Amino acid sequence: MEYQQQRLKTTMVVGTRPDFMKAAPVFARLKRFDDFIEPTLIHTGQHYDINMSQLFFDELGLRQPDIHLATGSGSHAEQVARMLVELEKSLVENPPHLVVVIGDTNSAVAGAIVAAKCKILVAHIESGLRSFDTSQPEEVNRLIVDKISDFHFVTESSGSQNLVSEGFSEKSIFFVGNVLIDTLRNLDGKFVTREIHEKLGLQGSRYALLTVHKPENVDDPKTLKNILTGIDGIVDKIPVVFPCHPRTRINIDNFNLSSYFGENRIRLVEPVGCLDFLNLESEAALVLTDSGGIQEETTILNVPCLTLRRSTERQVTLREGTNILVGAYPEKITAAAENVLGGAVKTGTTPKYWDGRASERIVDVVLNIRKSLFQPDSIKDGTAKIKTVREALSTE
Ligand code: UD1
Repeated sequence: MEYQQQRLKTTMVVGTRPDFMKAAPVFARLKRFDDFIEPTLIHTGQHYDINMSQLFFDELGLRQPDIHLATGSGSHAEQVARMLVELEKSLVENPPHLVVVIGDTNSAVAGAIVAAKCKILVAHIESGLRSFDTSQPEEVNRLIVDKISDFHFVTESSGSQNLVSEGFSEKSIFFVGNVLIDTLRNLDGKFVTREIHEKLGLQGSRYALLTVHKPENVDDPKTLKNILTGIDGIVDKIPVVFPCHPRTRINIDNFNLSSYFGENRIRLVEPVGCLDFLNLESEAALVLTDSGGIQEETTILNVPCLTLRRSTERQVTLREGTNILVGAYPEKITAAAENVLGGAVKTGTTPKYWDGRASERIVDVVLNIRKSLFQPDSIKDGTAKIKTVREALSTE
């Protein structure tokens, strides 16, 4: 086949809420180059509740996955093991030239491992972020995915610095910006007037928005209690709305912490879709969270954010954005929230390349990968071709 007619088979592996938000603009951009790229979408099934998965596909206009592996929940080993087995079947049956994984989830680590072992090129979106705390499962996933990826797409300068200091070739690192911000821009206008305020009885009132779901915070009864105690310190000053992740919900019941919730206490509600969430987030007086993506979104929305963690891999949100780390210390959480509510608000600037064009930059690189693989002078054998691309990127 002529070089001009060859399409780069590109498979994106997704599985969780944040993956769907980040994949949507990249997949849409890949589709625009249909003559050169053949994109497919695999959903591992890591998130499966309607309002954790399908609702996001609907609201983001993300095409239904070509393959749904329905691997579901379980311990990390069980979950990743099921993903490895099912992904391997899919990728062996219909091998793409390139697999794209996103972020730090179990879906990303499984996608990267299977692809690398099947000698398929791997690209990692949101590469290089480091919390330097390997007790977090996400940090372990980041380290593994980066190590076996051929192309590292970086959201902020700390990502590039971390990768360089870990010995990655600068040729494999592409500072492309943040695809989550592409989604925010694409949805701009769609999350302005929503009935969620009315539904939650918040019309016209100031409110704080809470999310907490990281294992380090919610799997330990003492830590979860500390966080809830800190937030309980502000419920007489401002309504606190808490769309609750299923992991947290289960632990609240298991640890007998339901006394923190109620009409005049923390208002626990079901998880909401991305439009309702962005609406709540953009109009909140204050956001308290342990989510990575929400630290980034609040920076762009210019909403004060208190991060319920000791460290963050999203360094730029501290340096340039509205983010402040408060850990899981009750007094610190209450005091910091009172400060913000009293008007001590940190204003932010827009980090470099958080301009809504990160997916364009990523797809430009993908088009170059296609060129390196298929151009007439490249070696004929498939494996050797991949080797050539790897070598081209790693040779200084
Ligand atoms: C995962 C990611 C985390 C990301 C988060 C976004 C890993 C290691 N972690 O964490 O980085 O911030 O997604 O939400 O991949 N559950 C349901 N329904 C669902 C999904 C989950 O009930 O649709 C419950 C199950 O009890 C499950 C638990 O939530 O065991 C945790 O889900 P899991 O996908 O394992 O990890 P997350 O905590 O969502």
